[in-house]
Amino acid sequence: SKSNIGLIGLAVMGENLALNMERNGWQVSVWNRTTEVVDNFINGRAKGKNIVGCESLEDFTTTLETPRIVMMMVRAGNAVDEVIEKIVPYLSEGDILIDGGNSYFKDTERRVKDMYASGFYFVGAGVSGGEEGALNGPSIMPGGAAEAWPRIKPILQSIAAKANGTPCCEWVGPGGSGHFVKMIHNGIEYGDMQLISEAYFLLKHLQGMGNAEMGDIFARWNEGKLKSYLIEITGHILLHKDVTGAYLLDRILDVAGQKGTGKWSVINALELSIPLELIATAVFERYLSSEKLLRMIAAKTYPRKKPEVVSNKEELIEEIHQTLYAAKLVSYAQGFGVLKKASETYDWKLNLATIARLWRAGCIIRSTFLDDIAYAFEQDSNLENLLLASHFSKEIQEALPYWKKLVATAAHEEISSPAFSSALNYFYSLTTDRLPANLIQAQRDYFGAHTFERVDEEPGKFFHENWTGHGGNTKSGTYNA
Ligand code: 6PG
Repeated sequence: SKSNIGLIGLAVMGENLALNMERNGWQVSVWNRTTEVVDNFINGRAKGKNIVGCESLEDFTTTLETPRIVMMMVRAGNAVDEVIEKIVPYLSEGDILIDGGNSYFKDTERRVKDMYASGFYFVGAGVSGGEEGALNGPSIMPGGAAEAWPRIKPILQSIAAKANGTPCCEWVGPGGSGHFVKMIHNGIEYGDMQLISEAYFLLKHLQGMGNAEMGDIFARWNEGKLKSYLIEITGHILLHKDVTGAYLLDRILDVAGQKGTGKWSVINALELSIPLELIATAVFERYLSSEKLLRMIAAKTYPRKKPEVVSNKEELIEEIHQTLYAAKLVSYAQGFGVLKKASETYDWKLNLATIARLWRAGCIIRSTFLDDIAYAFEQDSNLENLLLASHFSKEIQEALPYWKKLVATAAHEEISSPAFSSALNYFYSLTTDRLPANLIQAQRDYFGAHTFERVDEEPGKFFHENWTGHGGNTKSGTYNA
């Protein structure tokens, strides 16, 4: 019999997705650039399973029922275009291609268009959850050619993670929207990881706490409102010992890598003119971490005193707990702000509640907190900012005294906590009706006749002042980039 779906690319994500599909009753054909990889899979993990290994792309396409569904799990970038170019001669009109990698959404946008023109349906699907998720249920964010959705839906929803029985796989929108949503997911993942790392460091240095105790604290936090995958695995990581019996975490070099999705999130926030400061901080901190040599030299130039141990331990733990929650909320408010603006700009009609629900299980940022976010957007689909939702404003009000105290203590004790303080400053800037931007406008007008609006005049009316008495009356244009 013919296979229901074909899978290209047998790295760990591809293999695991194929096994997941097969386990859910689908016959899967697989192909990989290197035949040896196919053989190893077929004679190894796929042995005795309803999985068909193929030597050539031509064979591969003939084993699939038509219209064909082909999912690619190859490295983002040129490799995707190469596979498309190679497979297209063997496809027929109406066939569907799904790209399940971390492709840049603008590439996906172009591929959707090009494939339409050739008579094929292209879907860019964000897939999150790492190896484990791919095998047992990832979160899937498909977008692109909507014609493909009814056909791929039963397969993708069957393999997706379930949150209270609902599959974490829903149609996101047209064009590159699926990959855009995955990109923001990853940006949020960077933010969460940075925040958790700051919490760890403050527990360690403001209390001199050991890994075992910190591991217990994270386990405890994982029972409450911070309950999430990343908090859970942090608890495990803290307790993990290597073969020598030493805590492995303490032996890991403090230099963070990255593959680009966090950076793309920030670049797109800049392009859309929406603040994404927390994620930007997380990305820049990874860059700074990798300047290890420079940091070592600078540490000698500016020797640091040992932080004072904060006397009230339980109080400090609660400060960190509340700060982690509040700063995380700021990060999600910013991330969803970018999604909202992208949706308007690209006319994607994203459903923010649906997106929050997609992330409740399977993916790296899965948490109970996403239920509250989904609820907030369900109550008000035009919600301008998550911090305005009544549930969250209550939470922020509760956290604020702890949050500002902790940021002040960290600054005083000379421990960097850039994401915690960035979040707090965003909160202060957001929640005031008077910023010092009046001075920026005055300066712009002073040196460049860029004009300003006045508080005592109608908005949209622009003025220029002859600040020095010898400037002219010629104004500069008033456009905003
Ligand atoms: C996921 C992850 C995954 C990502 C890794 C690595 O959702 O399963 O986001 O897609 O590739 O987390 O990301 P960095 O190497 O950029 O940290």
